[in-house]
Amino acid sequence: MSKAPPGPAEHNVHAELIAGLRAPSPYISPKFLYDSLGSKLFEAICELPEYYPTRTEAEIFRHHGEQIAQACGTGATLVDLGAANCAKAAKLFPLLRPTQYVAVDISSEFVQGAVAQLRHRFKGVDMQAVGQDFSAGFALPDTVGAHRRLFFYPGSSIGNFRPDEAVDFLTRLRAQCDADGGLLIGIDLIKDPAVLADAYDDALGVTAAFNLNILRHVSRLIGANFDVSGWRHRSFYNAQRQRVEMHLEARENVSVRWQGGMRYFVRGQSIHTENSHKYTLSMITNMLERTGWRLEHVWTDPKEWFALAYARPAQHFAAGAR
Ligand code: AVI
Repeated sequence: MSKAPPGPAEHNVHAELIAGLRAPSPYISPKFLYDSLGSKLFEAICELPEYYPTRTEAEIFRHHGEQIAQACGTGATLVDLGAANCAKAAKLFPLLRPTQYVAVDISSEFVQGAVAQLRHRFKGVDMQAVGQDFSAGFALPDTVGAHRRLFFYPGSSIGNFRPDEAVDFLTRLRAQCDADGGLLIGIDLIKDPAVLADAYDDALGVTAAFNLNILRHVSRLIGANFDVSGWRHRSFYNAQRQRVEMHLEARENVSVRWQGGMRYFVRGQSIHTENSHKYTLSMITNMLERTGWRLEHVWTDPKEWFALAYARPAQHFAAGAR
């Protein structure tokens, strides 16, 4: 059976991946971590004792739920960015009582399944699943209410952007938010590197599997012959750049082929797969101010490992005046 020729979106994905694999310091964008299996592995990571962000953020919601609801108000269009299984937003429904819920995620099938299930639990809420890679651009369909959008961006996914990309992203969100809207965002804070080391290299090896699975996903996308057993997960805290980096390191010399090309990797050479930037409270305030938001509240846990910030659109913000 002959395969249909790739459409423009597939062409872009091919070009992006091949450019990364051919680069002098090879890389694969972290968005490719999230195929269907990758999304499930990430769910498993969130259950690990070493991976503190999910439970710390949940603890902040438990302790400050009333205050958070008061700050955000009820009846908004809740736009859940990187919604995955929608579990975090679903917990907020009783507090925030949204009129509309929009779950946006790069893993389109996964998020559609999650929204289909959620519809049964919250029958009065209008729900939409939007499969979108919002790392490059961000446009919501016309069916999404434009008034009082509450953007929900939990889990410190903002940390997976470089700081300049994070600034662009927050600026784009601001442009899609009217004066009555808001942004509820979870951000991971700088802490003891030993805590970070364990969180990104757990004893069970779930994070290693999550990282290695990117090679299977990429192999499917570009017809490559990555052999997962020839690569090892490596993560470390880069103190200068205030981020945890994930890499995949070749265990031996290996040639990787894909449709129309190949690359030789020497033993020990690595492919950079993810950055997870960590922030201080003042860096967060500064980043929000630069992007047209006014920080209204920050809630943290007692150890100050994680922050949940609520920001409102700043008045008189001209995009581009950063
Ligand atoms: C989705 N994101 C916020 C996670 C993080 O912590 O950067 C992804 C992850 N990578 C390794 N473990 C979890």
